[in-house]
Amino acid sequence: MTLGKEIDGKAFAAGLRGRIADIVPGFVAQKGRKPGLAVVLVGEDPASSVYVRSKGKATVEVGMESLEFKRPAMISQEELIELVEELNADDSVDGILVQLPLPKHLDDAAVIATIDPAKDVDGFHVVNAGKLAVGDPTALVPCTPLGCLMLLKDELGDLSGKEAVVIGRSNIVGKPMAQLLLGESCTVTIAHSRTHDIASVVHRADIVVAAVGRPEMVKGSWIKPGATVIDVGINRVPAEEEGKTKIVGDVATAEAINHVAAITPVPGGVGPMTIAVLLRNTLVAAHVRAG
Ligand code: GUN
Repeated sequence: MTLGKEIDGKAFAAGLRGRIADIVPGFVAQKGRKPGLAVVLVGEDPASSVYVRSKGKATVEVGMESLEFKRPAMISQEELIELVEELNADDSVDGILVQLPLPKHLDDAAVIATIDPAKDVDGFHVVNAGKLAVGDPTALVPCTPLGCLMLLKDELGDLSGKEAVVIGRSNIVGKPMAQLLLGESCTVTIAHSRTHDIASVVHRADIVVAAVGRPEMVKGSWIKPGATVIDVGINRVPAEEEGKTKIVGDVATAEAINHVAAITPVPGGVGPMTIAVLLRNTLVAAHVRAG
């Protein structure tokens, strides 16, 4: 049995951020302003607060403008929509990201539908989801699946004709991931919680993307020898040491490493790619908007 390789998403993301940082000064010189990313955080969820802080820091590091809008958890739907409309109308804002999940009394879909599709750097608006589905290259594509695709292409080159199984059918990862792989001419299967004999479905795959949010659900024995595995999961579980927690993926990596050609670790695989692609989407949106 040979040990598979770990895909260094952290290094790839650092390279991508470096290339973005190289391009930003040209934009500033030509347009007389920095590309701007507005991040809206509603409430005090600790995990969301950490993400938003990291996004702000990464945005500034590549030379772009970071605008943070923190609003209390009890903000009304109307007030939140009004804020998004103000950001739509603000010419210094190229990208708008509303951190999800929103508190229960707010309607995620209605808020996302308010974002100007040209500023929708998350790629969640139905206009961008539709463009991705029909293969329109002007789509803004959700950051996590686009980051996964970049890692896969870097690892494997041409993906044409490969069997890909995406586990998970969320609008944020699973569905756009499947669309992207289809766009690369893969044979794509989406597996999910109701899939019969998921082990044998996964065993067909040259490429496995696991995005279900269930700790170490994908077992090593499910993986076809030599497959490439992208683990999108970020699950906090109790650690061996009493009272401590640790982060694990959706794949049982210690088993899977014996079967795969390559696999993304958790942490340090897909996670760092999401913010790097968000910066990339913001730069793309800024160039398109500035003409
Ligand atoms: N919450 C978890 N991931 C994401 C993301 O990629 N975008 C937004 N807006 N919220 C998130």
